[in-house]
Formats: sequence, C-alpha cells, structure tokens
Amino acid sequence: MRRIDDLDVQGRRVLVRADLNVPLDGETITDDGRIRASVPTIQALAGRGARVIVCAHLGRPKGSPTPKFSLRPVAARLGELLGTEVAFATDVVGDSAVRTAQELQDGQVALLENLRFEPGEESKDDAARTAFAERLAGLAELYVGDGFGAVHRKHASVYDVPRLLPHAAGGLVLAEVEVLKKLTEDPARPYVVVLGGAKVSDKLGVISNLLAKVDRLLIGGGMAYTFLAAQGHEVGGSLLQADQLEQVRGFIDEAAKRGVELILPVDVLAATGFAPDAEHEVVPTTAIPADRQGLDIGPATRELFAGKLADARTVFWNGPMGVFEFEAFSGGTRAVAEALIGSDAFTVVGGGDSAAAVRQLGLPEAGFSHISTGGGASLEYLEGKTLPGLAALED
Ligand code: 3PG
Repeated sequence: MRRIDDLDVQGRRVLVRADLNVPLDGETITDDGRIRASVPTIQALAGRGARVIVCAHLGRPKGSPTPKFSLRPVAARLGELLGTEVAFATDVVGDSAVRTAQELQDGQVALLENLRFEPGEESKDDAARTAFAERLAGLAELYVGDGFGAVHRKHASVYDVPRLLPHAAGGLVLAEVEVLKKLTEDPARPYVVVLGGAKVSDKLGVISNLLAKVDRLLIGGGMAYTFLAAQGHEVGGSLLQADQLEQVRGFIDEAAKRGVELILPVDVLAATGFAPDAEHEVVPTTAIPADRQGLDIGPATRELFAGKLADARTVFWNGPMGVFEFEAFSGGTRAVAEALIGSDAFTVVGGGDSAAAVRQLGLPEAGFSHISTGGGASLEYLEGKTLPGLAALED
C-alpha cells in the first residue's frame, strides 16, 4: 500500500475518505474519538500544502438528505481539533461541493455533507455506484483512504473512487491494519478474546474463525443469553436469538473439540425492565427468574473473567458486557476494561461500542495497546474476509 508520503500533494486537491461516524445527541457529539483519530492524516496533508477535501458518512440515512444526519456539527468539531476553520459543503457532489473544492487554498480543509445522502454511495448496482464515484473523484486529483471503520463497505467513496484516482492509505488505516495483522499472524499466547454486545448473529463469522485461533473465548453482554439458553438454561426476559441456538450449540461443541476454553457468565444482574433505574438483583445464570432480564454480568463473572485475563499475552475485546449506558449496569464492562488496563498483554479494543464505553466510563485510553476505530471492520478483518476498502488501496 502506498502511504501519503509517496504522494506529491503540494497545491493539489486531495479527497480523504475518513470515518467520522460519531454518536450524536441532537447536534451534540457524545464521543469524538473517530474525529480525533482522523486528525493526524488531515493535518499531515494540509501541512504539506494539500487542499484537503474530507468526505465521510454519518448514520444510515439511506440515500436522501436527512437533517439529523448532517455532518455540520462534525465540521465544527474537526475545525476545533485542527485549530483552523473547516469549510463545509452543504451537499456531496452538487454546486456547494464543487464551489467549496474550487475555493480551497493550499493547506486548507473542507468537509463534504454526508456521503449517504446520495443513493449512489451505497448502491449495489455497479453502474450507479460508479457514476456517483466519478462525480466525487471529479472534485479532486488524489485520493487518500483513511476511514478504517468503513473499509468493510463496498461503497463508492471506499471502493470505487480509489480506482479512479492515484491513491494512498492514510496513517490511521495503516496503523489499524498493522495491529490486526499482529492478532491474526502468530499472536503471543495465551490469546484471549472477549466478546459482548447485543446480538450473537453479528458475531457468527468471527466466532467461527476465532475458534481455530484463540486459547480462550469469554462471552458476555446480550449475546451471552443465547449461549446460556443453548446450554439449557432459562434466561427469562433477557435478549435471546432463538434462531441462532443451533449455530451456537455448534460453537460450544467445536470449542470443546478444539480445546478452546469457552467461558460464559455464571451470574448476572437481573432487572425488572430495560431502564436506568430498573430494580435488579444478582442471580446465578442457572436461576434467572422468568419475569427478569439480565442487563449486566454479575460480580462472580467479573472476577471469573478477570482471572481468565490475568495471564493473557494477547487480548482482543469487542462488545460491552452489559448496558453500560446505564450507570447501574456498567460495572461488568468497567471490570473487563480494568482487567485489560491492568494487564501486560498486547490489548486491543475493537471499535464501536466498546471503544465508546472506555471513553464514556472515563477510563484512560493509554491503558490499552490499541483502541480501534472500526467495530464491524475489525471483526470482518479477524473473520479473514477481504475488505473492499483495503483491497482497493492495495491495487
Ligand atoms: C461504523 O460505525 O462501524 C462505521 O462507521 C460503519 O458504519 P455502518 O455500519 O453504518 O456502515
């Protein structure tokens, strides 16, 4: 992969595909981690006299302009972090974008409106995607792919534009790939993976692949209840994907065959409802009352997981252990994060909710070896899939 240092960017318009898909509460950015992670590449290009046109998506607006998914608040935050004004184009490839790109001076930065306001961005139809990619590419002379969190998407800005312009990978993408390579090529052992989050169906591919690679697999969060149900436990009103039970039973058998330790929760915080102030109690996973739902792993599980992480030399963690957004149910996620912070292992937090949890719980980011900006992207990399955005940058 070419790096940005391999491109002659002085005085040239460079389209940077970043991942600025941050959580918003109205117009307030509640976690700016992805914006901060995008700054070094943008700064390096601007510092070398490039005219930087940043493009990105926010949420899933499905091909038409939707005010609540506007990137305008992101432009303001990016400007604060860069210490310079960021011009904002109110469309993606329309008059505003063309004018904004033309008016940029050397070293200046602009951000286009949400790529997903255009149906061509995500279209499954190659011709529609290419037509949009040509308009996007027409705004610039060079392309830099730095939106690691979106490299698993075969979208125009990720996959098609780099085929139309001379291109390079940004520093964020290179750093993320280097870390994930370490996890896939000969990780130091014991190699322990902690998976959580709501849905087991999102993790099927990665579990199947990891069973051949890891020494221990710790499962928490909403997805754990499908595993517990597969073992014959009653899970009350907890999250359960009944259509995945067969598949999960297969994983349990496969782990046993391969000698992989599969560790499930032994107790949970069982709540009367899904609410921050829901009444709750600690119950063993063998006795979850029918009218309760598990919203976090319990204290014995926290201790069990910490023990299983204590001698690890490599750890990958993706997905919260409970509903960490509610203070009362954030203890399990905090306990896993603290076990990783206290560990000497090479520790990687895989994107999305778990990265946001680390920051929202006020835990030191420096306590981990790497916090990925890509949730789905890092999981698909670990699944061994070819990621369209990386393949396009390799050509
Ligand atoms: C993410 O949030 O994981 C990335 O920004 C990709 O977003 P998407 O899942 O909506 O494609």
